[in-house]
Amino acid sequence: MPLLDSKVAIVTGASRGIGKDTALALAEAGAKTACLARNEELVKQTAEEARKKGGEALAYKVDVSKFQELEAVVEDIYGRLGRIDILVNNAGITRDNLIIRMTEEEWDQVMDTNLKGAFFGIKIVSRYMIKQRSGKIINIASVAGVVGNKGQSNYAASKAGIIGLTKSVAKELAPRGIQVNAIAPGFITTDMTSKLKEETKETLLPQIPLGRFGLPQEVARAVLFLASPDSDYITGHVLHVDGGLAM
Ligand code: NAI
Repeated sequence: MPLLDSKVAIVTGASRGIGKDTALALAEAGAKTACLARNEELVKQTAEEARKKGGEALAYKVDVSKFQELEAVVEDIYGRLGRIDILVNNAGITRDNLIIRMTEEEWDQVMDTNLKGAFFGIKIVSRYMIKQRSGKIINIASVAGVVGNKGQSNYAASKAGIIGLTKSVAKELAPRGIQVNAIAPGFITTDMTSKLKEETKETLLPQIPLGRFGLPQEVARAVLFLASPDSDYITGHVLHVDGGLAM
């Protein structure tokens, strides 16, 4: 029997990058997967590819920073698939700037998507998980939230916030049979990091003990572990998938 047979998963930011590969990995493991993102066309493609992996998959265009939009989508997923076992809060953005130049808008946009979006996701989905007395919530943080990063004070603060949120909710929901963990990826090759200048990449590389950037599939595999029964005794953990960068 597939690892996640009869489980229902929700992945935010599933149109590309880490979220897309995560949705595909969950579908391949047998989960019915709801793929959420802002770009309708791309997220439909993810769902289409997930169906080819053998799983049932749904696609939704949604902005995770809008509570009512997200709530309506989750209600629809529950109505169609009958349960919610896994939530992956992956949607995230960067608006980099040095602190003295950073605008309030850049700060707010990053906080609204990365931190408030994860809060909304957990708040909405945990209602269903509490009724089921089971569930797995995986929040995508970042190495920046652990060690900080120049020019990313908004992003690093949002990701450090994700870690505090993960640990607090893990304590609250543990008696309800729900595990809540975070993953802190290092530099992963996606559209988000393709924006980095070549010279920045050259400076970064020697700092990574494993000597290379990571692949989205390598984060997806860590998500799969935290979404599966293999991690039933793990909660409130921050799993570093960073080639040793934060060591
Ligand atoms: P990406 O930019 O390739 O994809 C981001 C996804 O989030 C897209 O599907 C986009 O539609 C979605 N999204 C953004 N804002 C949204 C909103 N308001 N509502 C719904 N969906 C929204 O990014 P990537 O690299 O795949 O990153 C995924 C997650 O991993 C993010 O949380 C990011 O912060 C985190 N991360 C990425 C690292 C990297 O090196 N690529 C390193 C550490 C963390």
